[in-house]
Amino acid sequence: MAEDKLTKIVSFCRRRGFIFGGSEIYGGLSSIWDYGPLGTILKKKIKDVWWQTYVEEKEDIVGLDSSIIMPQGVFKASGHLSSFVDWLLDCPSCKKRFRIDKIEKIGKDLYKCPECKKKIDSSKSKPRQFNLMFKTNTSATEDNPYYAYLRPETAQGIFVNFTNVLNTTHKKLPFGIAQIGKAFRNEVTTGNFIFRMKEFEQMEIEYFTHPKEAPESYKWWVNDRFQFYIEKMGIKKQNLRLREHSKEELAHYAKSCTDIEFNFPFGWNELEGIANRGDFDLSEHSKVSKKDLSYFDDDSKKKFIPFVIEPSAGVDRTFFAVICDAYHEEQVKGKTRVVLKLKPDLAPYIVAVFPLLKNKPELVSLAKNLFYDIKNKLPVLYDDTAAIGKLYRRQDEIGTPFCVTVDVDSLSDKKVTIRHRDTMQQDRIAIDKALDFVDNKIG
Ligand code: GAP
Repeated sequence: MAEDKLTKIVSFCRRRGFIFGGSEIYGGLSSIWDYGPLGTILKKKIKDVWWQTYVEEKEDIVGLDSSIIMPQGVFKASGHLSSFVDWLLDCPSCKKRFRIDKIEKIGKDLYKCPECKKKIDSSKSKPRQFNLMFKTNTSATEDNPYYAYLRPETAQGIFVNFTNVLNTTHKKLPFGIAQIGKAFRNEVTTGNFIFRMKEFEQMEIEYFTHPKEAPESYKWWVNDRFQFYIEKMGIKKQNLRLREHSKEELAHYAKSCTDIEFNFPFGWNELEGIANRGDFDLSEHSKVSKKDLSYFDDDSKKKFIPFVIEPSAGVDRTFFAVICDAYHEEQVKGKTRVVLKLKPDLAPYIVAVFPLLKNKPELVSLAKNLFYDIKNKLPVLYDDTAAIGKLYRRQDEIGTPFCVTVDVDSLSDKKVTIRHRDTMQQDRIAIDKALDFVDNKIG
């Protein structure tokens, strides 16, 4: 049943132009995906809401857009060069490669190959370390290479710019730096659609505080980020939960960490992690770069390295959760109606306008005029390429909250029919009041 939902969602996203396989005509690449026309709009809206909530509406957070390619020193300091690794085991029989922590151990040194089911003896086929970062050469010559890496998290761009931001914005603690951008990981475990990608986007905030205030700030962020998914992304509370990491599970840099998990079709999994990273990052970057990244407190006249609280969200996982949560099927007159019950302001289009008959030029012209009026104010779509029933179903599927139909009576009574996505209820409204009607409904 759950698998069935995942299959349905993958095919739905493809069919309606939300997500396509990357470079499909060349056979594609595993865990690389492209966003189609509707997916691009939804993804942008998710990022816009996050940016507006934290950078535009709050006074203590500023934005940053740092580069993706970063030198080796950054990842020496962050620990990614030494610790961002998976242990891989090769099966000598079927030649497939697996993450050792993901396969069944059946005795001392013996594992069971998940593919061909034969035994793998790890004392002979030795496990090997595999760094998840993508390495690149920034020098123009092959014989004199200068190696750099594609960042595996946007966070490091924030830490290396800590002093730049402090000196140019004159912010006082506590304050945050927010960034949305691409990150790259050569993930070995793939599958589950866009849950684990090799190229993905993050929305991260590094919120710098006085060490004493860090535990309180951490609690605030856990709660605030949880509410964000309910209030701003429209995800149902019962599909979200918090999971605090045990001491053994904590990443090398974290003092504490809580995951926000979503009930994906394949089970509860991480949507976002909120970590108290202590002073690890700024201290390590100070040591490796030999630049002082401390903060001078005007009140106490003391210098110290601030602590940092990091709410780290994935854009693609949020997108996935929003779609899974909104996807809904119901039976109407013996047929399955698919409705994407998106929060109205996240829907790719808020209104769709149709003429009931496309061979009546007066109707088409009235519908097009209404479409252009609305287009100045709200995301709207015009469609006359099918019969009305089919046009409604198409919009239900992509989550358009309102469909406005112009019919023959509209020419005389100057009214249109407005149909609601979730209830299918229809209202007859004066044409010149249609926009206000929709605006009021979406608040
Ligand atoms: N700076 C901390 C950090 O990067 P993380 O838990 O590794 O922590 C944070 O990643 C978030 O980024 C995850 O909760 C997830 O939403 C997203 N993410 C991480 N790896 C991903 C991948 N391979 N594909 C898609 N999203 C990913």
